[in-house]
Amino acid sequence: SGLAGLFAPDFAVGTALSNTTLLGQNPSLESLVAREFSAITAENAMKWEEIHPTADSWDWQRADYFVEYGQRTGMYTIGHTLVWHSQMPEWVFIDQDGKPRPKAVVQKAMEEHIAAVAGRYRGRIQAWDVVNEAVTDDGKWRESHWYNTFGEDYFSRAFHLAREVDPKAELLYNDYNMTIPAKRDFALAQIQKFRKQGMPIEGVGMQAHVHLSEPEIAKLEASIEAIAAAGLEVHITELEVDVLPKAYDYMGAEISTNFEYSDELNPFRDGLPQKVADQLAARYESLFNLFLKHKDKIRRVSLWGTTDAESWKNDWPVVGRTNYPLIFDREGRPKEAYYSVAGLK
Ligand code: XIL
Repeated sequence: SGLAGLFAPDFAVGTALSNTTLLGQNPSLESLVAREFSAITAENAMKWEEIHPTADSWDWQRADYFVEYGQRTGMYTIGHTLVWHSQMPEWVFIDQDGKPRPKAVVQKAMEEHIAAVAGRYRGRIQAWDVVNEAVTDDGKWRESHWYNTFGEDYFSRAFHLAREVDPKAELLYNDYNMTIPAKRDFALAQIQKFRKQGMPIEGVGMQAHVHLSEPEIAKLEASIEAIAAAGLEVHITELEVDVLPKAYDYMGAEISTNFEYSDELNPFRDGLPQKVADQLAARYESLFNLFLKHKDKIRRVSLWGTTDAESWKNDWPVVGRTNYPLIFDREGRPKEAYYSVAGLK
């Protein structure tokens, strides 16, 4: 039903569940999600620091709730994420004396983590973001603790292990700024190299944290085509349209070196002007038009949250802004952007 029902013949339409939605804290949002979407990702609940905060403690509460919700509502349920540099507890890389832990120890921690998490939810997760954000915008391996400790092998090991632990889940690589050719081409070349050596992977998630006019549709299209040409499924992930002035430029360089709140960076705190609401609706319409054009390549389109109230873009990269990046308003009512997307069908 809902929006996802309209697009069911084309691709799944998903959203992310925030921690404040899980554990029964927001029943009305739960029903809204069940009505409108066919796929879910946990915004934070499955990240390492949440689930595995110290070497011998696990906190499964939110992740369990998320997976059970997915089963109960028949969702395509995505696990996010097994191996990432961010939202990582320090113990994985640094010992009690503050010294870097040796390669074998870090590798074992990664293997045990994947076995525990993917193993717990085996058969109930349809796709895993196995590795997240491993490549820099200029097309190199990100020098994360993972990479610095055991080199590029961590990437393929994570995929091999995920497949062993949950053979039926689709395995994905997920990253942002995949419209930057150097970044995308490097990521795809590495994936192809590892695949030739037997690494399992089904698709690439293109995080779509976009703005009103950037990146251009043509750039997004070139990336969808490049991923598909490499023989991989395209997953549009983490979609939202930031309507606020940028505190950083698209290539990641800082425009404002000062990430502190200023009224200038929060122009719509009293409400979104009609003109911008129209721009937002038009942007969503052209994005979904593009996705429909390439529906043979696209498995899923997932928004990064349901209502404007819960979007991380209110607080990132500047805390305390009033953003309007999603398709439901702060009260959970469909916005003009929702109707422009629905109107395509
Ligand atoms: C973000 C969440 O939305 C925030 O709540 C959290 O504080 C930081 O992480 N790329 C990803 C996501 O893969 O996991 C990130 O999610 C956004 C960028």
